[in-house]
This record gives sequence, structure tokens and C-alpha cells, in this order.
Amino acid sequence: MQNLSPGIIGVGSYIPERVVTNDDLKQFVDTNDEWIRTRTGIRERRFARADEYTSDMALAALKKALARAEIDAKKLDYILVATASPDNTFPNTACWVQKGLGLEGVACLDVSTACSGFVYALQLATALVASGQNKCVAVIGAEKLSAITNFQDRGSCILFADGAGAAVVTMTQGRGTIICSNTGALFDYDALAVPAGGCRLPASRETVEKNQHTIAMNGRATYQTAVRKFVEMANEACTRGGIKISDLNIVIPHQANEHIVYSAMDRAGVPRERVILNIDRVGNTSSASIPIAFDEAVGDGRIKRGDYILLMGFGGGLSWGYNLIKW
Ligand code: UT7
Repeated sequence: MQNLSPGIIGVGSYIPERVVTNDDLKQFVDTNDEWIRTRTGIRERRFARADEYTSDMALAALKKALARAEIDAKKLDYILVATASPDNTFPNTACWVQKGLGLEGVACLDVSTACSGFVYALQLATALVASGQNKCVAVIGAEKLSAITNFQDRGSCILFADGAGAAVVTMTQGRGTIICSNTGALFDYDALAVPAGGCRLPASRETVEKNQHTIAMNGRATYQTAVRKFVEMANEACTRGGIKISDLNIVIPHQANEHIVYSAMDRAGVPRERVILNIDRVGNTSSASIPIAFDEAVGDGRIKRGDYILLMGFGGGLSWGYNLIKW
């Protein structure tokens, strides 16, 4: 019998129904469709309903992943939710997902590394099943960023969107094998942060009036570091995985900005047709962006059995990480 190794046996995703075009954002800020399209690649994005929460989207994505994996939810023994926009500080969003599945006694953990959250969570899931501590782990990236976006800041509100993606991880016989992962962080508060709501700046009338419970971003600084880290990660992942950049069939980067992605991939030597980008339709959904793009590419046949797939995240922290997978 072939040796077992940690692998992904199903992926799924969910994006809300409501389409928000670039022109729709003109009701909040002085902007225009051409600026947003040419600077970011975004044409439209999705926003959740007022009564639709991060855990609802996480649950919808996970149910699809479980169906694809042909696994009953009762088999799950760990739920990891990567999110920067949790339902509550606690109970964590993973607990809400457990409740939604009607389960009890499952380990529930939120991972709060913003846009790199899904790759962090996938690395953790790999270690959990490889060590034998757990058998079947749900890995979800889910966001309701529209709830923490500053709609008075035209430099950031044009990017963010809502959605969720999920993967089911277990020991497999060479199915969706997670070959290697690495994660890390650089500290840069000024680049990207939600300043208020934690103990450094508890909620007050002033924090609300100053919009400090929403995302504050220095776009330029984040852009430059993102390009550099994406190039470094692509090279490191291939070296550690024992393959060449030219062996990569598919690269799924965090959908931060089309220019960040293409500039990094051109420098790394990854042909553009191997890069999965859905930012034009989906926008930047932080930790959900990689698993949504992953699921879409599996669903429409761009990802094929045996493909080498590289997932790369980068965002708040600034945090970064990658997973190299053989599908
Ligand atoms: O996923 C989390 C990680 N985040 C990222 O990776 C974001 C990375 N950064 C970016 O994607 C880009 O920096 C942005 C898309 C956010 C901004 O693009 P940029 O080319 O860096 O623009 P900028 O901030 O340097 O602004 C250039 C000009 C400014 O006008 P002046 O001062 O040159 O007259 C801005 O005021 O564009 C203006 N501007 C806008 N104009 C129309 C900024 N935002 C807008 C807007 N509509 N929405």
C-alpha cells in the first residue's frame, strides 16, 4: 500500500449574491471605474447581506468542500477558520461554524493573520494530521470585509470584498498532497492595521467617530513588500519542494492587486497563463481569496490531477506564507 501523506480531498467556496460595481462605490468616495480597473484590476466585487455573517459564508463554503470530498461533517475533528473579520472576538468564528454543522466537541480555532490566514491554517492542518493528533481538519478562509472597511477612504475601500473558501485535509494516498509550507511575519503596523477594538485602543465614542475600527492601509508600502515577498516565496517553495519554477503548473496568489501579482510573477519567471486571478470579479477578500480562486480553478478544470500548485499569501502583520501542493 502507498504511504499516506497530508492532502486536500475537497475544496469549496461561496461568494455572496450582491454585486457591487466600481461605479456603485462613487456613492461613498470620489473615484471612478477607470482608476479602479487600471490600478487594481477590479471591475466588481461581492458584499454580503446585512444579516449574513462571516461564519455563514464559511459554513456554505465548507459544506461544498465536504460534498466534493464525499465526507460526512461528523468526521471533522478540527475546524480552522482564517479571518480578519470574525463574527465576534469570542466565541470564535470556528465555534459558530461548528454550531452551524450541528457538531459538538470539535476543536475550533481562528487564525488571524489577515490575507495570509488560509496558508497559515493549511500549514497547521498539515501538521495536525501528519502528527496523528487529528484525522480530518476543515480549513476555511472567510471574510466580511465590508463590515470593517472605511468607506471614507478611497485608497482602500475600492479593494475589499466578502466571501469564503474551504478545504478538507486528511491523510491520503497521494491526493492533493501538501508537499511543503512555510509562514512568517514582518512587523509593520503602519502598513496595514485595524487600530481600535483591541486593548491598545478600546472602543470609545472617539474611536468610532475617527473610523478606527476599520482597515487602515498604506497601499504603496504594502505593494512593494508584497511584490518582494511573492518572488522570494515562489523561489523558496520550489527549492524546498525539489522542483523548478517552470514545473509549477498553477500559482494561486492572494488576490491583492492584479499589478502586484503580475509584477511578482514576471520577476519570478512564472508565465502569466499559469496564474489564477479572479480579482476582476471577486475583489480582495483577504484570507478567503486563495481558497475561492482555488475552488474556481478546480471547478472549471484549470487544475488537473498531478499539477504542481503554489498558494501564496501576504497581508496584515505583515504576514506571509505559502503551500506547495501536488494535486
Ligand atoms: O490585501 C491586503 C494587502 N493590500 C495590498 O496589497 C494593497 C497594495 N496596494 C495597492 O493595491 C495600491 O497601492 C492601491 C490600489 C491601494 C493604490 O494604488 P496606488 O497606485 O498606490 O495609488 P496611490 O495611493 O499612490 O494614489 C495615487 C493617486 C493619488 O492622487 P494624487 O495625490 O497623485 O493626486 C490618490 O489620491 O490616486 C489617487 N487615488 C484615487 N483616485 C481615484 C487614490 N485612490 C483613488 C481612488 N480613485 N479610489
